[in-house]
Amino acid sequence: MAILLTGGAGYIGSHTALTILNSGMDVVVLDNLLNSSEEALKRVEQLTGKKAPLIVGDCTRKEDLEKVFSQYPIEQVVHFAGLKAVGESVEKPLLYYRNNLDATLTLLEVMRAHGCFDIVFSSSATVYGTIQEMPLRETLPVGCTNPYGWTKCMSEQILKDTAAADERFHIVLLRYFNPVGAHESGMIGEDPSGIPNNLMPFICQVARGRLKELSVFGHDYPTKDGTGVRDYIHVMDLAEGHLAALHYARDHAGAEVFNLGTGTGYSVMDLVNTFEAVNQVKVPYHFAPRRPGDIATCYADPAKAKEVLGWSAKRTLTDMCRDAWNWQKHNPDGYRS
Ligand code: NAD
Ligand code: UD1
Repeated sequence: MAILLTGGAGYIGSHTALTILNSGMDVVVLDNLLNSSEEALKRVEQLTGKKAPLIVGDCTRKEDLEKVFSQYPIEQVVHFAGLKAVGESVEKPLLYYRNNLDATLTLLEVMRAHGCFDIVFSSSATVYGTIQEMPLRETLPVGCTNPYGWTKCMSEQILKDTAAADERFHIVLLRYFNPVGAHESGMIGEDPSGIPNNLMPFICQVARGRLKELSVFGHDYPTKDGTGVRDYIHVMDLAEGHLAALHYARDHAGAEVFNLGTGTGYSVMDLVNTFEAVNQVKVPYHFAPRRPGDIATCYADPAKAKEVLGWSAKRTLTDMCRDAWNWQKHNPDGYRS
């Protein structure tokens, strides 16, 4: 039996593929390679000594999914496939709704037709919208501020309704906080195309000299140093969270939501200072106006994942900064290096 990872060639998917393969299970990947490279999976194979077959195909196409389910004995699915750039989703909402919702709907239909009912879904802390009550608990109401976020809220709802209507479904919804870092080998990592939107990849490219300076968006927030606070989580901790979720899904019907975060918030300046100290590099920065749509503070209450899944994040901010830089140093142009 194998675990299907849709979007498994991407950043979180490739780290999760490695973790699942190392746990002794088989992995199959379906990815359209729109935002990823086959090279990531080649490196996963080098690191694990095991191959995860890649089917280049689209989750919104029934025939592509049919091919996977008829060729491989798929027991469980982790559904990473999706578009994820917030700004782009505001400019191209139909693209985001079509891709992210169609992918979820088509996948669920094909799974059911093939008697596969276990699915772990990549959701996001973005579903908490502008809630200011920290730490964020799974019981809070959801509400989004952009089309990308709405595709996550809507997919969560589709999955919950599906589980409510058909008790054969075992569904786990994972709300990731801010995934950063890379596998400690430096062989796989985050490879954004163009200028990164997110803080850690931006810092890495400034440290490397490819970008001149970091703009710190806002230094007048009600936080300890005025800069935005987030719950950064090491991508390998996140990958291990998926393994725990897959184990849980085996014998739990219904749909259950879990935060995957550390429970600790760090500011933009914490990241810059830790990155410089750990890696002995300079990260030039200047203060810039707030980025529209940003909130001051966002961090998880990760207690439910600990109690129910037996999972908690182990790696520190130092580990995150060291591993992100290790990947960047060895792969200055990502998988194209
Ligand atoms: P990523 O872009 O690296 O990976 C997503 C993968 O899905 C890519 O390889 C892309 O080519 C593929 N894909 C997209 N649409 C597809 C489709 N229709 N059919 C087949 N493949 C398709 O992103 P990631 O950071 O690894 O994120 C994985 C998932 O986690 C996404 O759903 C994302 O929204 C969610 N998430 C990510 C973050 C983050 O900060 N990285 C935070 C919260 C949630
Ligand atoms: C972003 C997404 C969110 C997604 C999350 C996953 C937006 C608006 N939100 O969240 O939907 O779930 O990634 O990781 O894109 N910062 C700078 N300078 C930069 C970049 C960022 O100061 O060049 C600051 C931001 O203002 C914020 C912090 O760094 O305070 C983190 O930003 P980022 O990495 O983009 O993540 P989020 O905004 O939390």
